[in-house]
Amino acid sequence: MVTQTFEEISPADFFYRNRDIAGFTNPSRAIFASIRELVENSLDAAEYVMIPPDVYVRLSYVGEASPESAIYKLRVMDNGSGIPPQHIPSAFGQVLFGSKYKLKQTRGTFGLGGTMSVLYGQITTHQPAFIASSTGISKIYMYKIMIDIQKNRPLILDRKIILNKERWRGTVIEYSLEGDYIRAMPKILEYLKQTALVNPYANITFVDPRGRLYKFMRATTKMPPAPQETLPHPYGVDVETLQRLIRFTRCNTMQEFMKTHFHRVGELTASKFLTFAEIPASKSPKKLKREEIVRLVQNMKRFKEFLPPDASCLSPLGEELLRTGILKELKPEFTAVRQRKPSTYSGHPFIVEVAIAYGGNIPQKGDFILYRFANRIPLLYDEASDVSFRIMKGINWRRYKISPDMPIAILVHICSTKVPYKTVGKEFIADRPEVKREILNGMREVARDLQHFLSRQEHVERERKRLGVFSKYLPKIAQFATKLAGRQEPPDIKKLLDKVKTIEENE
Ligand SMILES: Nc1ncnc2c1ncn2[C@@H]1O[C@H](COP(=O)(O)OP(=O)(O)O)[C@@H](O)[C@H]1O
Ligand SMILES: [Mg+2]
Repeated sequence: MVTQTFEEISPADFFYRNRDIAGFTNPSRAIFASIRELVENSLDAAEYVMIPPDVYVRLSYVGEASPESAIYKLRVMDNGSGIPPQHIPSAFGQVLFGSKYKLKQTRGTFGLGGTMSVLYGQITTHQPAFIASSTGISKIYMYKIMIDIQKNRPLILDRKIILNKERWRGTVIEYSLEGDYIRAMPKILEYLKQTALVNPYANITFVDPRGRLYKFMRATTKMPPAPQETLPHPYGVDVETLQRLIRFTRCNTMQEFMKTHFHRVGELTASKFLTFAEIPASKSPKKLKREEIVRLVQNMKRFKEFLPPDASCLSPLGEELLRTGILKELKPEFTAVRQRKPSTYSGHPFIVEVAIAYGGNIPQKGDFILYRFANRIPLLYDEASDVSFRIMKGINWRRYKISPDMPIAILVHICSTKVPYKTVGKEFIADRPEVKREILNGMREVARDLQHFLSRQEHVERERKRLGVFSKYLPKIAQFATKLAGRQEPPDIKKLLDKVKTIEENE
């Protein structure tokens, strides 16, 4: 008889076996993903304390690993919040451990990226990771850790505490990993450039293995307002969430419960809803039976009178900052930027920002260049699967007198507490009708702006030509006419030319 063995694996073990789904597919993708995850942590950390981020990334060559890959040392340093000392080992040594499970907009979501980077480094080089961090207190904590993958726990190899005389605040992480920088280089540089574009208030420095220095300097110190933490909206709640809320609530009545734990539910809405769901307002939430909980969730989705979620938990870039970023990194001749009104899908609020950039340094590629962003992260892979790509392809651009052979870039930024990514690798966004509608309308608006700009430009060009003809022939005509009339002095044509000019300027 064949006997089966059953065993349990830890989350770290799961991601060790399935690195692909977190984006660590091969040496080239892995080095890209590592830099990206750590840069995102640094940006999140600086924004958390509302300080314009200073992120320093250094990748240095250590030695050859195989014909296609090498060992590198990666160091990322920031001026962000720092990590409380007791959490430093777990922050980088435990998968699914983090501070961003709250309902508000952040780049990180799963408590995965930083640890995955360290884990990948460990399994490819067998070296520990070094982390130093301080929250700005009198001490800096330094750790040398490895990950016990089977247990999903950090192993602390060494710990040092030094005095922080300068009250430095931030985090440094350094570890070795195997990668293919040569192949990853274009993507990494593109990633940094686009990150600089949607974070125009950040300084990002990158020193690559060849010693080349790339600097993306901030163009402003203005930052978008920090997102507020929010409560779940009734439309987005499932049975599990509701059960958890019931377990920890201190409310004694359903009326109180609805008001306390749900987003935008006040006295009136709560009582209307409870009547609709046929649940007594005075009933204790702890007394709800299982079937009642299931029915409550179903009714939450059916009830039409909940107010839509507000967008205070979101932190879109805003038109001014997006324009600053575009002008700084893309240097176009013209740009139009639109922020759409907040909207929701399945109870999750989101905001779409769309921009178009034309001419100047935008290359002419035979097709539009599409830049996609989600929660201020550039998305660089799997473009053709992304909702924005398909919408862009579906628009009849000729209506706006725009064609793909023009130097045009289109930018789409989606912010949400829950970006509808299709994978944990955070590469492309799924089609949701609500999201689609906002992107489509945004693209149409900026397309119209560009159309106006182009037709104005065409008009000015025509006028310039007309004036050119006048100023070329008028003196000749004047001379000829003088001769014909037998006069000595030609008439003053300057007045006439000025008149033509002012007509054009006033138009
Ligand atoms: N540079 C950093 N500065 C401050 N905190 C950090 C930094 N990097 C990671 N952390 C902390 O470690 C946690 C885990 O990071 P990570 O594994 O990347 O997951 P996520 O970013 O999805 O939460 C974060 O939630 C954050 O609390
Ligand atoms: Mg992260």
